[in-house]
Amino acid sequence: MWAFGIWLAAAAFAGDPDAGRSVYVAKCQACHGASGKGDGAAAAALPKPPKDMTTKEFWATMTDERLKSTISNGKAGGTMRPFPMSETQLDDLATYLRSLKP
Ligand code: HEC
Repeated sequence: MWAFGIWLAAAAFAGDPDAGRSVYVAKCQACHGASGKGDGAAAAALPKPPKDMTTKEFWATMTDERLKSTISNGKAGGTMRPFPMSETQLDDLATYLRSLKP
């Protein structure tokens, strides 16, 4: 299991988490909250608040593909709109989000 974990870490995004954090603060924090818990200032007004991205449960079902496609395409039926960005920014952002995993 640990070997698989190391493989995953190595195979995961090679983005820059600091650059990703800047994108997050600018585009995502209002809803997803400063720490990713889904408690941003705008979250209270949403029909369905964003999930807490700092839990094991969240990451248990979140694949790299789904993470990136959610950011690029949004989520059908939700208030999560698409955020088109460059592949580099997407990698940086995904790397930052992965760092929220406990
Ligand atoms: C207007 C508020 C808002 C903003 C801004 C926003 N989100 Fe979301 N996001 C949501 C909501 C609400 C959900 C839950 C949607 C649902 O479950 O239908 C969500 C869900 C998600 C999910 C989980 C998708 C899943 O399959 O469970 C991810 C990942 C995510 N957002 C990432 C981001 C990122 C990265 C940004 C910035 C680029 C961002 N969001 C900006 C409101 C927002």
